[in-house]
Amino acid sequence: MLRTHTCGELTLSDKGKQVTLSGWIQRSRDLGGMTFIDLRDRYGITQLVFNMETNAPLCEAARKLGREFVISAFGTVAERSNKNPKLPTGDIEIIVERFEVLNTSKIPPFTIEDNTDGGDELRMKYRYLDLRRNPVRENILLRHRMAIETRNYMNDTGFVEIETPVLIKSTPEGARDFVVPSRMNEGEFYALPQSPQTFKQLLMVAGFDRYFQIVKCFRDEDLRADRQPEFTQIDCEMSFVTQDDILATFEGLVKHLFRKVKGVEVNDIPRMPFSEAMKYYGSDKPDIRFGMKFVELTDIVKGRDFKVFDDAALVAGINATGCAVYTRKQLDALTDFVKRPQIGAGGLIYLRYNEDGSLKSSVDKFYSEEELKRWVAAFGAKPGDLMLILAGEENKTRKALSELRLEMGNQLGLRNPEVFAPLWVVDFPLLEWDDETRRFYAMHHPFTSPKPEDVALLDTDPGKVRANAYDLVINGVEIGGGSIRIHDRGMQKKMFTVLGFSDEDAQAQFGFLMNAFEYGAPPHGGIAFGFDRMCSLFGGSESIRDYIAFPKNNAGRDVMIDSPAPIKQEQLDELGIKLNTKAPKE
Ligand code: AMO
Repeated sequence: MLRTHTCGELTLSDKGKQVTLSGWIQRSRDLGGMTFIDLRDRYGITQLVFNMETNAPLCEAARKLGREFVISAFGTVAERSNKNPKLPTGDIEIIVERFEVLNTSKIPPFTIEDNTDGGDELRMKYRYLDLRRNPVRENILLRHRMAIETRNYMNDTGFVEIETPVLIKSTPEGARDFVVPSRMNEGEFYALPQSPQTFKQLLMVAGFDRYFQIVKCFRDEDLRADRQPEFTQIDCEMSFVTQDDILATFEGLVKHLFRKVKGVEVNDIPRMPFSEAMKYYGSDKPDIRFGMKFVELTDIVKGRDFKVFDDAALVAGINATGCAVYTRKQLDALTDFVKRPQIGAGGLIYLRYNEDGSLKSSVDKFYSEEELKRWVAAFGAKPGDLMLILAGEENKTRKALSELRLEMGNQLGLRNPEVFAPLWVVDFPLLEWDDETRRFYAMHHPFTSPKPEDVALLDTDPGKVRANAYDLVINGVEIGGGSIRIHDRGMQKKMFTVLGFSDEDAQAQFGFLMNAFEYGAPPHGGIAFGFDRMCSLFGGSESIRDYIAFPKNNAGRDVMIDSPAPIKQEQLDELGIKLNTKAPKE
């Protein structure tokens, strides 16, 4: 028998038992008369002891074992004299009577312990070794629990898990597609799904009524901490529902996951219209763990010869409670922060409301104390507060102020990763105007329905039309998004027209869906959650890579298998593909 127990389960109640454990050697300590080995497996660590006095040859052999050797050891459970309260197995050790080396190991390129000396790239190259480390393994196990609990909830609420194809045709979700050449149809390509959007709608036409899938999606977009080129969605669709039905069903899923996986009870999830999110937080994914809402000053600051404000479409700020004590250096650092190219503000104006009631601002020469008091009143500031103000073009200023708000939230410790503040953002605009291409784009996707009361605006003022679309935001992260769909052929056709498709293009690309709408499509809607993002939020990390067993790096490469990689000329020939670059060597 290679093992009778795991390395994580033996305690004092097992004292005297004869056991066999198998695992990896995490560490060994040779104290002359005694040798101690920490044996590790998925379940924990157990200490093995070898005694020179009682069994010298065995002890000698144990001393030769290297880190990460795989062994199987037989012995007796004994009480430790030197207990380790940090380990569940810390009260016992195994007095080894014999062992077998199941495999040797080269010296690992980094230490396989909670705190490792391995850099990012090295750990990715040897990801199978990184995955042996507790924190990384815990993340993967968390992901597993999330998936199981998702399936439990969805099954209990009548959803059917159905797989949809991976080799499909482009679905327009806004990112570039990854494409796969077809050998049997030379010159033609499959696309990998950016999401199963059209398929899940077809499943509603097929009458499945409640569908879900934990599914891989592929998007060829620039990568960030919360974006991978292949990622996983909890993808869902329901028939005969209103937006309220969908939000209630998935509020249930969110609560279930928090309860089962984190042991946290979350309150009912508030709803905020997109317009309010933009006005008060400058973002469609506000972090509502803290307040610090935007205050608009545009109407009360103009006409005092301060050009920055006079020229601005929007003057707005936030009140940082208790920050009047910020030093010149701290204020300079904040100014540098907002002036960084990614944020792009021209500068930062501050108003300090000192504890003694005096006011000090960076624009004292333009504004009298009386005027500054009106600002204080607008902010509702108290002595000890610091008001930070930005000005400029409307959207840019809101975006920059949103970044500043989050930065202040960080500085003031208001963004505790163990506090969870979910929010539904609702009533998104249907369309987004792009100045460069001078056309509208669907803000969510072209299958999203307009609010019935706004349909007439499609002909007169399309930019004003609101959609039956919603996002789930938790702690400032967009965790999911969905909508009530168009289920009427005529409306879908109109939508494609508004988006600049000719009838022929719309028919060629989406004829299959519009045709399906002619065979009794039920009203339907749904949502998809970013499963990797959910896992990282639950785990308290910003990077979704930590929750993916084999992730890609920021250049979209898998450095372990060295992919993407060139393919052989024969393969290219077979696919009928001619490269502009030189063909790779055989
Ligand atoms: P959407 O494009 O909003 O909607 O995607 C849903 C959720 O998927 C996550 N997500 C990502 N996670 C990691 N890496 C990425 N590159 C990435 N891109 C998106 C986000 C996002 O909220 N078909 C629609 C859903 C629907 O309408 O039902 C869709 O895919 O958390």
